[in-house]
Amino acid sequence: MNPRNNHRLILFPHPFQGHMNSMLQLGRILYARGFSITIVHTNFNAPDPSSHPNFAFQSITDGIDQSEASTLDTRGLLALLDVRCAVPFEECLREIVSSQGGDAAPIACLISDSMFSFTCSVAQRLKVHALVLRTAGAAFLYIATIFPVLKEKGYVPVLGSRSEEAVKEFPPLLVKDIPAVDPQKPEVMFRILDNLIAVIKDSSGVIINTFEELEHSDLASLREVLSVPFFPIGPSHRFCVTSPSSSSQAEDTDCISWLDKQPPKSVIYVSFGSLAAMSEAEMLEIALGLADSEQPFLWVVRPRSVRDPEWLEKSPSHFLKALEGRGKIVKWAPQKEVLAHPAVGAFWTHSGWNSTLESISEGVPMLCMPRFADQGVNARYVSDVWRIGVHLNGGLERENIARSIKRLLAEREGAEIRERALVLKEKASISVRQGGPSYQALDALISHILSFK
Ligand code: UDX
Repeated sequence: MNPRNNHRLILFPHPFQGHMNSMLQLGRILYARGFSITIVHTNFNAPDPSSHPNFAFQSITDGIDQSEASTLDTRGLLALLDVRCAVPFEECLREIVSSQGGDAAPIACLISDSMFSFTCSVAQRLKVHALVLRTAGAAFLYIATIFPVLKEKGYVPVLGSRSEEAVKEFPPLLVKDIPAVDPQKPEVMFRILDNLIAVIKDSSGVIINTFEELEHSDLASLREVLSVPFFPIGPSHRFCVTSPSSSSQAEDTDCISWLDKQPPKSVIYVSFGSLAAMSEAEMLEIALGLADSEQPFLWVVRPRSVRDPEWLEKSPSHFLKALEGRGKIVKWAPQKEVLAHPAVGAFWTHSGWNSTLESISEGVPMLCMPRFADQGVNARYVSDVWRIGVHLNGGLERENIARSIKRLLAEREGAEIRERALVLKEKASISVRQGGPSYQALDALISHILSFK
């Protein structure tokens, strides 16, 4: 065990699953580099300390429970968490700062999720250096910086009639790829993005889960526009040899032995992240489209992702028969292991950033069905910039689903996409190897942290 370098990092993750995974992953990377790690976390979606015995954990009272959270959409929950956490977070950090000295290692700095607006101002008051962790990609962050221009040009709030139009100021984006703004309450989204830019400008630097080769031009634009150091250390999960699941949902590892029985590159893996929700009608279309595709499939159906968790058991027998044998449905999968499995030929995804980066890391072509937030931007880059996947254009209906899956798994276009995906996989691997760009960015991050007086 390399001795703790007597520097302690305070990490403050956002409780959304994709964000929590990224911060805990960063904690494991920095722990392995000799830092002591303290996780300050909300009670809402609290992480399980037993998965990280080397970390200290400190909870703050946000006063949000699942029933209150279930009445809000993602943006509403983001806004509520930001309001409810500011005071208890400051109290907690003040207590940690005042307990320094004695046997507690001095605080090197705070690293907080960029979706909290108050962290850098609190850290400044308590004379603690503050970095922010950005769990989405550079392209989406750059979109956030030009949102006022998009608003001024009338692209947002998106008018349905213009959704297929190109965003001339930011090719190859289409209007529909821009994060949706509720026309009834546009100020909610504008405030979220304004706060994001402000907290980054207030910080001593941004740790971002991407890599230079993947998003070079957007990273260059961000460095220019925001004038703070950026540390692209992605795909960060590649730095962690063992990554205990930090998901609140238990992983169903039986699916790996099911995959072992499938032909190479034959399986479509289907998962829409930890937040997306579907109607029963949409679930039926997905199921029948998978059945019609005639490809084996591994489908993640999170219990809370559909209003009626028993929908499958209540489904008509003919439909269950269509699924039998050809597919496997699990509540939560060991996704990184699944994407690395030789039987997996494509990934039908909502284009969340972590899923996108994990698919790139394993060279798995993607079928993109973005739903909200940064997913539209991520999906556009997958299909039009990196060209390692396709959009599920034409809507969520069985014939279209089956056709799109065959396009990726059984046609020439899919083979060309796979070749490009494997080239990008190699670039991701080189990036995190010693001497690679992400490895160097991690070294630079550690020097930056140790330079704080
Ligand atoms: C949220 C937003 O939806 C997304 O747009 C944003 O980019 C990040 O925050 P989420 O919806 O959870 O993220 O999607 P994603 O970013 O893809 O993260 C999902 C994580 O859960 C991934 O790390 C994935 O490996 C993991 N996962 C998903 C599992 O481990 N098992 C599963 O069955 C499904």
